[in-house]
Amino acid sequence: MTPTVRANPLRDPRDRRLPRLPDPCALVVFGVTGDLARKKLIPAVYDLANRGLLPPGFVLLGFARRDWDDDSFAEVLREAAQKGARTPFREEVWDRLASSVKFVQGSFNDDQAFDTLAKTLLDLEHSHGIPGNAAFYLSIPPSAFPVVLKQMQRTGMASNEASGGWRRVVVEKPFGHDQESARALNELVDDVFTAPDVFRIDHYLGKETVQNLLALRFANTLFEPIWNSHFVDSVQITMAEDVGIGTRAGFYDETGAARDVLQNHLLQLLALTAMEEPVSFNAEAIRYEKLKILRAVSLPDDLASYAVRGQYEQGWLAGQRVRGYLEEDGVPAGSRTETFAAVRLGIETRRWAGVPFYLRTGKRLPRRVTEIAISFKPAPHLPFDATDTSELGHNQLVVRVQPDEGVTLKFGSKVPGSAMEVRNVAMDFLFGEAFTESLPEAYERLILDVLLGDATLFPNNAEVIESWRVIDPMEDFWAGSAPHLYRAGTWGPAAADEMLARDGRCWRRP
Ligand code: BG6
Repeated sequence: MTPTVRANPLRDPRDRRLPRLPDPCALVVFGVTGDLARKKLIPAVYDLANRGLLPPGFVLLGFARRDWDDDSFAEVLREAAQKGARTPFREEVWDRLASSVKFVQGSFNDDQAFDTLAKTLLDLEHSHGIPGNAAFYLSIPPSAFPVVLKQMQRTGMASNEASGGWRRVVVEKPFGHDQESARALNELVDDVFTAPDVFRIDHYLGKETVQNLLALRFANTLFEPIWNSHFVDSVQITMAEDVGIGTRAGFYDETGAARDVLQNHLLQLLALTAMEEPVSFNAEAIRYEKLKILRAVSLPDDLASYAVRGQYEQGWLAGQRVRGYLEEDGVPAGSRTETFAAVRLGIETRRWAGVPFYLRTGKRLPRRVTEIAISFKPAPHLPFDATDTSELGHNQLVVRVQPDEGVTLKFGSKVPGSAMEVRNVAMDFLFGEAFTESLPEAYERLILDVLLGDATLFPNNAEVIESWRVIDPMEDFWAGSAPHLYRAGTWGPAAADEMLARDGRCWRRP
């Protein structure tokens, strides 16, 4: 019998010299043949292995309908890792990982397959020294959640007590379809797993640049005094993608841009930008402050003018002709699903009273870019001739989430010469220049955190429910109307520009 490997009780978690390693454990992936698993999860597991961040006792267990055995499954994983990994592919790392790969074949309503899975997990104690610890990753359509959760409950797989170790579940977004369905789903998940063992993924929180928002704001003196309505004119949060919907028509057409991205990624970025300082850097304190902001978010009274949605038509991108949304494979004729959404939100707190937060996201926009731009008010007095400052815009702090990860500060500078002419200049910080290591992928960080049991970067139930509170009225308002059309390769429908023009502003060109 292999002796059970236990965590070192003498390790101090604050010691930065050695990386934190999870306890010996299994990662069970449902939906392991899907897009997300192949493109993100498997490569992330390989990258973690390559960085030496997985415990010596680690098993990757796939569950799917395919007729595979452990070896053929390992071959599929190898291909995914080779294609998608961020770090160099090394045979010795792969061989070690491949020797701990298991596959259980079955469909979600197959009791016998789940019994086999439960037994396979129990057997890992003897074969790999894994004392009952397992994380279940639900990379499956939301409609399949109930049946899989019920199977886990039936087999006792979800129980910490029955397994003798920890059992955790990872649920991919979107968490529900609206507030009501999210509540129902929460009840179901919380009925099967204990609440602290539920990890709701919003992969934007796994991005280094997003976590850096907290460092930028709370580790520095410079920004906090001006981070409020006295100095901030407005905030723009943009998540633009050049890609279309690819092969995801089935999912996307039921979801749309607001539910796919606004409800989660963009509202989380807003919460981190606007929240108060947490009393400490633990999960509870950070979630508490984000939740306060989400609760304070207000929608515009005039949704017709300040909540715009669009759908891409055929156009040109990077010199290539691309199809319109309605011509994409699998999109139903006459679909009114939006591929672009923009909204003006307020935050009803003393710090943010009167400051508009403009959020926008879209597919088939000119390029892939996510950024948060804080625009500051003009100086209260300018002792220059108006002509001297005609080229001076608002001071701006732009957090570049991706690509070109970093931060830009824009401010006025004197143009060299005999006149006092002031024009905008930019000061740049680039992660790639300041640090030598390439940034880890969001999923590397998040999978590792699940295995470590650290929930800091995962939104909790209350945040998810509160985010739907913001989205539901917009969806109700849009229901039955057609989205504005925009040409692929442009920055969205004209109505989105008109929305800002109404407020005397314009969208930043990222
Ligand atoms: C996902 C959305 O959450 O985020 C996709 O479902 C989107 O529609 C993706 O393409 C974008 O992620 P990233 O990390 O490439 O910005």
